[in-house]
Amino acid sequence: KDPRVEGIASSIRVVPNFPKPGIMFQDITTLLLDPIAFKNVVDMFVERYSGKDISVVAGVEARGFIFGSPIALAIGAKFVPLRKPRKLPGEIISEKYDLEYGTDCLEMHVGAVQPGERVLVVDDLIATGGTLCAAISLIERAGAEVVECACVIELPELKGREKLSDKPLYILVECR
Ligand code: PRP
Ligand code: MG
Repeated sequence: KDPRVEGIASSIRVVPNFPKPGIMFQDITTLLLDPIAFKNVVDMFVERYSGKDISVVAGVEARGFIFGSPIALAIGAKFVPLRKPRKLPGEIISEKYDLEYGTDCLEMHVGAVQPGERVLVVDDLIATGGTLCAAISLIERAGAEVVECACVIELPELKGREKLSDKPLYILVECR
C-alpha cells in the first residue's frame, strides 16, 4: 500500500449529521488545507494516468473540478467541466440522475469531447454512484471512451461501484 494514503485519509474531516441527520459527511476542505496531502492526491493520480494516452479529463462540478484540473494540466490533457444545470452557455447534452430525494442533472458542451477520445472522469467521492453514472453517459453519448473513473474517496457500503458495471473505478481512500 502507498504510504501517502494514510496522510490523505487523515486529512479528510468527517462531520456527523451533515447536511442531514444520519449522514457522515466527508469534508475534503481540510485535505485542501494540507498542501502535502493535496499534492499527494494529485501526484498519485498523475502517476497512474501519465502515458495512458488520455486526451481529456472530465471533472464533475463542483468538487471534481478541484482535483480534475491539476491532473489535466500535469498529464497534458484537456479539462472538460461537467456542470450542474443552466451554467454552460453553448449547445449542451444533459443527463439526469437520482438523488436521495428528487433528481439532479449534469451538462456538457457539445464538441468539448470528440468521438474516440480517451477520457478520465474525476470526482472527489463516490457514494451511490449516480453522479459518476451520469458523467459516464455524457462521455459515451459524445462517442468517446471512459478509460477509468478516479475518486479520492469511496463509501463502499453504498455500493456505487456496482452501478458503474464494467467501468473501472480507482480510489485512494475507503470510508466505512
Ligand atoms: C457530491 C460529491 C459527488 C457526489 C457523490 O457532490 O462531490 O460529486 O455527491 O454522490 P453519488 O455517488 O451518490 O452520486 P454534490 O452533488 O453534493 O455537490 P458538489 O460537488 O457540488 O459539492
Ligand atoms: Mg460533487
